[in-house]
Amino acid sequence: MKEHKPVLLIETVELLKVKENGVYVDGTLGAGGHSMEILKRLNGGKLIGIDRDMNAIEIARKNLRDFSNMVTLIKGNFKDIKNILSEVGVDMIDGAVLDLGFSSIQVDDPERGFSYQNDGPLDMRMDKDDDLTAEEIVNTWGEKELAEIISTYGEEKWSSRIAHFIVEARGKRKINTTGQLAEIIKSAIPARARRTGPHPAKRTFQALRIAVNSEIDILSDALKNFVDVLKPGGRICVISFHSLEDRIVKQTFKELENPCVCPPDLPACVCGKEQKLKIITKKPVLPDLMEIENNPRARSARLRVAERT
Ligand SMILES: C[S@@+](CC[C@H](N)C(=O)[O-])C[C@H]1O[C@@H](n2cnc3c(N)ncnc32)[C@H](O)[C@@H]1O
Ligand SMILES: [Zn+2]
Repeated sequence: MKEHKPVLLIETVELLKVKENGVYVDGTLGAGGHSMEILKRLNGGKLIGIDRDMNAIEIARKNLRDFSNMVTLIKGNFKDIKNILSEVGVDMIDGAVLDLGFSSIQVDDPERGFSYQNDGPLDMRMDKDDDLTAEEIVNTWGEKELAEIISTYGEEKWSSRIAHFIVEARGKRKINTTGQLAEIIKSAIPARARRTGPHPAKRTFQALRIAVNSEIDILSDALKNFVDVLKPGGRICVISFHSLEDRIVKQTFKELENPCVCPPDLPACVCGKEQKLKIITKKPVLPDLMEIENNPRARSARLRVAERT
């Protein structure tokens, strides 16, 4: 397998409660790590793997070649799950996995522009057919808009200074590369604040990646779409990698578990909104210390699982 270590692999697939003749969707195929583990448990069932990155589809196709008769791989955005399923003639599914964010394969390739450690073009698109790139955001968005995404999506407290430094720098010379941007960010954060914590560019790069790929905007609706196509008893397992993402997963699950919007003093529900989910993981499942030691990317991972009622 090409190197992307699947996070919370066994925990996820066990909580998915795979039925051997079921139909499953991996909405974030990547290198196919989670898919492979699902496929090993199938006998007569099938797996639909989706990724918006054509390169991931090609890598997964190779990694999953032993199961090719049970797999359908599709380039697409998991938010469009309903259309994707109708295109392949599937009505309802027995379970789904979403392992959000980017893969090591994407980050490790400097040409993709995700990395603040290796110089490359400021791209960050998961789907090469999308129009918006990090270069466009960094060079054309207003200072206020930049500060806002860096603050919200990056949870970066130096967001205003970083946005200001970016606007100053691009006034002198267009910002084309990840290396250039990482230097600008570094210069915006005071030295004493740089001494502790992660790489100074980590949060801003996360923010840009989320903005380029609309990762946060689509999440809640995408989860609801998945729940609509789950058979009763079918489960959805979602792994997130930062608190913003995890909060959306938690809130969306809660909303679907208890959707009633009636005032609390009414004796009975009249809004007619029905429960669609039962939350299986009251608290998120976290990786154990051994996994974190072997895979630094697992450090912030959280798995939440819910079941269609
Ligand atoms: C963390 S990786 C998945 C790794 C995979 N579980 C494995 O074990 O190999 C996330 C993958 O999801 C894809 N992705 C992210 N958002 C997506 C979306 N909205 N629709 C489809 N794919 C998406 C990325 O391109 C990336 O390949
Ligand atoms: Zn109600």
